[in-house]
Amino acid sequence: MAINAQGRYTRTAIVLHWLILALLVAQYLIGWTMPHIGRNTPVTTLISLHFSIGVLIIGVIIVRLAWRFTHDEPAHEAGIPAWQLRAESIVHWLLYLLLVVVPVLGWINASYRGMPVTFFGLVEMPQLVATHAASWRWTGDIHTLIAEYGILPLVGLHVAAALYHYFIRRDRVLQRMLPGV
Ligand code: HEM
Ligand code: HEM
Repeated sequence: MAINAQGRYTRTAIVLHWLILALLVAQYLIGWTMPHIGRNTPVTTLISLHFSIGVLIIGVIIVRLAWRFTHDEPAHEAGIPAWQLRAESIVHWLLYLLLVVVPVLGWINASYRGMPVTFFGLVEMPQLVATHAASWRWTGDIHTLIAEYGILPLVGLHVAAALYHYFIRRDRVLQRMLPGV
């Protein structure tokens, strides 16, 4: 991927980055507050909100990936060791990947359970697999597992790296992703 000269992310990239953070905070809080989904659980308001925000996350991540594939990465700060740049790139791409995989697995699982998925009650989303199709039973467990033990530790590492740059290395990596700095 080529490098752009400004050394910081565009306003669009910054808005999309922090929007995803806000949506994820809401999504985990709802995921952990909503009733545990079992065989005969009715689709309560919180559960359908979890589905709607999840669908919104899929939409935002598609826009974000489209941005990513059509824009160059800002030039890196000087002097960052090659292994750190490599690690950063792996974590970013894993996050992008999981932000697609996790909501899609959730949607498949909702379909498997025969639960309607709508976009805030406005648009009915298609059912992705047949209700109780046995081969999709695993999707709920794996959805929860990757959401909690995949995305969260990676975000933890990502935030730790951002804080390291800001407080210890004292460079401008964090500022690249902050509005107007
Ligand atoms: C990035 C987006 C998403 C995140 C971070 C996320 C997170 C979570 C979490 C943490 C749980 C576990 C709740 C518990 O402790 O019981 C959960 C469960 C669930 N989520 Fe999501 N979710 C996302 C998107 C979606 C979407 C888009 C759908 C459906 C359209 C969905 C459907 C479900 C279902 C059906 C369960 C219950 C799974 C089971 O226990 O079998 N999720 N989600
Ligand atoms: C407080 C929380 C967060 C902070 C402080 C933060 C900070 C940053 C910073 C400083 C960058 C720019 C890195 C660089 O210039 O090389 C960045 C990029 C990125 N962040 Fe975050 N971030 C946070 C939350 C998240 C979350 C929740 C996600 C997604 C789950 C995420 C995904 C990404 C991705 C994918 C990039 C790469 C952008 C690209 O080049 O395509 N971040 N973040």
